[in-house]
Amino acid sequence: AIEKKVESLLSKMTLDEKVGQMNQYSGNFASTGEVSSNRSGEYLKKGMIGSTFNVFGTDHLRMLQEQNMKYSRLKIPMLFAADVIHGLETTFPIPLAEACSWDLELMERTARIAAEEATAAGVAWNFAPMIDVARDPRWGRVMEGAGEDVYLSSLVARARVKGFQGIQSYKDFSKPNTMLACAKHFVGYGAGQAGRDYHSVDMSERTLRETYLPPFKATVDEGVATFMTAFNDLNGVPCTANEYLYKDILRDQWKFNGMVLTDYTAIMELIAHGVAADLKHAAQLALDAGIDMDMISEAFVSHLAALVKEGKVKEEQIDVAVARILEMKFLLGLFDDPYRYFDDEREKKVIMNDEHIEVAREAAQQSIVLLKNDNNILPLKKNVARKVALIGPFVEERNSLNGEWAIKGDRSKSVTLMEGLKEKYAGSAVQFDYAQGTTLPLIDRRTAHVSTNQVPDKSGFAEAIQKAKDSDVILVAMGENYHWSGEAASRTDITLPGNQRQLLKELKKTGKPIILVLFNGRPLDLSWEDENMDAIVEAWYPGLMSGHAVADILSGDYNPSAKLVMTFPRNVGQIPIFYNVKNTGRPFNPNKPADYRSSYIDVPNTPLYPFGYGLSYTSFAYSNARISSEKLVPGGNITVSVDVSNTGDMDGEEVVQLYIRDKVASVARPVKELKGFEKISLKKGETRTVKFTINEETVSLYNIDMKWLAEPGEFDVWIASSSDDESQHLKFSLVE
Ligand code: IFM
Repeated sequence: AIEKKVESLLSKMTLDEKVGQMNQYSGNFASTGEVSSNRSGEYLKKGMIGSTFNVFGTDHLRMLQEQNMKYSRLKIPMLFAADVIHGLETTFPIPLAEACSWDLELMERTARIAAEEATAAGVAWNFAPMIDVARDPRWGRVMEGAGEDVYLSSLVARARVKGFQGIQSYKDFSKPNTMLACAKHFVGYGAGQAGRDYHSVDMSERTLRETYLPPFKATVDEGVATFMTAFNDLNGVPCTANEYLYKDILRDQWKFNGMVLTDYTAIMELIAHGVAADLKHAAQLALDAGIDMDMISEAFVSHLAALVKEGKVKEEQIDVAVARILEMKFLLGLFDDPYRYFDDEREKKVIMNDEHIEVAREAAQQSIVLLKNDNNILPLKKNVARKVALIGPFVEERNSLNGEWAIKGDRSKSVTLMEGLKEKYAGSAVQFDYAQGTTLPLIDRRTAHVSTNQVPDKSGFAEAIQKAKDSDVILVAMGENYHWSGEAASRTDITLPGNQRQLLKELKKTGKPIILVLFNGRPLDLSWEDENMDAIVEAWYPGLMSGHAVADILSGDYNPSAKLVMTFPRNVGQIPIFYNVKNTGRPFNPNKPADYRSSYIDVPNTPLYPFGYGLSYTSFAYSNARISSEKLVPGGNITVSVDVSNTGDMDGEEVVQLYIRDKVASVARPVKELKGFEKISLKKGETRTVKFTINEETVSLYNIDMKWLAEPGEFDVWIASSSDDESQHLKFSLVE
């Protein structure tokens, strides 16, 4: 029925009205790129704006829609979008952090809450999830994804699409709390050379297919409604002009029939890429590549009509794009009621309600990774009398806690660590004495460099050191200002910024035990900290409930359960570093170090903290790995199981991981590939058997002819607590 409606409407539209639908503006901010001469007012009056994003407030949106409806001859509603990346007003941890929970149900739930709030506040289209696999912590946008692994990223991508869209069946956006999700950025954006944002990507077809495409395919399988192009060029062809990506892969091979929009000014950027002579040429290239909507560039709206008249593009190409856009508007019910997403009543009920705030705390607890805990210095129990020196720029920092892309999250509402600790330890035996010690260096966004006028200030050191000397234990909160990660925030030095490490060195001299809590948006180089701190807690940016969640962890009221989804390198020179590398012809041999092996002469190959790693206050023992059969027959399946016991003193949760290795194949395979995981909860003393099923799909690969199939042969299996745990090892063969 919708198809008929689209067809009928399309037949009444002028060419100008059609290209108007393909035109999108940002309401009130320019995040990236140069904005071309923005003629939004002019086009609004001609009814030639299909969509707007970053306009907030239902009053403002209603006014804009009213204007649009007044000027649109055929009464075509405008579609409102926003980047609701990790919550609208209830801000959840940054996505990278939340992925460390390995809790897909939780990630779906927080995405749903974000959508419940956004859809009541006028937003029917979300520019999320960001599902770029990311293996370079220099890149600032690692904070937005689910880390380095293709299997985990694909599942997280599905969970987030499911949560955001909230649909019960394919394309059923009939309920007003459903919204369009957007899989971005297609594709390879996470693989920019040297971790520099927007940089070129040069990658083999194999790497593209094995690692970077699957999360996107997963969102298509989940029924994602829209895709966004990536800024980068892929093997020389900018993604926004890349016919191979949109026509061959997305539409022909994957049968995606939703809508594709560009990233911010990406059509215009085809000129800078050096593939378009001018904006008109760029418009032609993007349309030919299969792009439906132009974000900001004004390329389609300015030039497509002329290109049709000149015979350079066909009106049918435009019809196809416009039909996709109109279909979305029909699906969302905007033709029945252009105002259906502005619901004051629902907005009042859902925005930051108690339930949402509670989930924000739960999500933050589950995202915080315990990296080190010597002598069980943590938790800091409330009933053990101790004087704690509380030091560092993040103790009272509020502004950074939401991290980047906290689109409408009111930074003034986030709970600081100081506030969380005060509430947690009120009336307890623990006493805190605070000194900031040092400050967080800022970034000058105009020059994209660290502000040069900031001389590292040591004036606070003396007070901090004195307080440390007077204490039994030092609790330090440090990290990156939130502008240091996110878009256009790549770093070449990923140690703690400013003189924070210097302060740690001074504190270390006091001889008191030190607990370091970190707030940051990327894996950092923590080699020195790992050697010198007694405990390290990676809190990332935990969002609205930051202080409470960190206090829950520090006190032991919540037992940490998160595990890393991105490898922490020993130093920046190891990057890119990720767990599922190939073996090489000269693999490192610990018994013959540096003997013409694939290794470094100055640091080991191993990372500081591997993928899948994270500690708990309790301990887990894995034992008794077993396999139902050592022969997997085509079409059949086998089961591998392990017993996991909580052998410590606290109840806890554990992420049990399944890795495999294909020992001999037509192409070299990674030394390990994640193929399953289960997060379990174990009471102290409890043992549980965890089982995984392995079938042909588990062991399939793109063979030497790039065909997806399972090759007979031998496989290693590990059921493990992290990617470097090999204690529970099994073998099996796929037989012909
Ligand atoms: O959605 C984003 C994208 O991820 C980066 N450039 C700007 C877009 C709109 O805000």
